[in-house]
Amino acid sequence: MELETQRLILRKGKRGDWKDIVEGASDLNVSKNMTTVPHPYGKSDAEWFINDSIKKWNQKKGYSFFIELKSEKKVIGVMTIGGISETNGTATTGSWVNKKYWKKGYITEAKIAVNDFAFNMLKLRRLNSTVFTENKASNATQSKMGYKMEGMSRKAQRSKSTGKIHDINIYGLLKEDWKKARKNLVRKSK
Ligand SMILES: CC(C)(COP(=O)(O)OP(=O)(O)OC[C@H]1O[C@@H](n2cnc3c(N)ncnc32)[C@H](O)[C@@H]1OP(=O)(O)O)[C@@H](O)C(=O)NCCC(=O)NCCS
Repeated sequence: MELETQRLILRKGKRGDWKDIVEGASDLNVSKNMTTVPHPYGKSDAEWFINDSIKKWNQKKGYSFFIELKSEKKVIGVMTIGGISETNGTATTGSWVNKKYWKKGYITEAKIAVNDFAFNMLKLRRLNSTVFTENKASNATQSKMGYKMEGMSRKAQRSKSTGKIHDINIYGLLKEDWKKARKNLVRKSK
């Protein structure tokens, strides 16, 4: 199973993706905003992540979509739907893009396809996400995608790469929020 957008293919990881993953995730500008990515980040870290993501995908426990830029046949980021709870109809999302490719609308394009997958194919009713309060790009992205900020948690998460403790914004996207946000996003891109 893979998803396709105008510029991207969103697919399961492959062992050969490790170089592209290292290029993106070894940059502190990326990892400082995340809780799970160590620094320094090398081949064995990427191989571990790829194997773990394939295992979870096969077990239907979570889907890490590797974001492949069609024009360069290169993986420029990852968008994950993890912690799927069938009982609650919820999951948690996280994503990053290689800094060379920021601000070109790639995560917006990827999220439209992956959110559709989460709500229509997985039949979820809510996506959760948390963002460090000072992470402008990610807070902007969440608002754009229709996520509602539901609260703030003080000193709640630690960046694995920097060791710094962060306050976080807590976001939720209901299926009905997504329907509205999607209409606006698609209208703007026309
Ligand atoms: C967050 C991240 C994934 C955004 O990826 P991207 O492909 O550059 O995002 P897009 O180009 O689709 O932009 C999405 C929105 O965010 C805004 N945005 C992007 N970077 C921004 C920045 N540095 N400051 C303010 N807004 C920003 C864009 O303007 C856009 O909104 P607009 O269309 O209304 O202008 C990327 O910055 C990243 O990988 N950051 C490091 C890792 C990270 O923070 N992950 C999320 C952890 S919660």
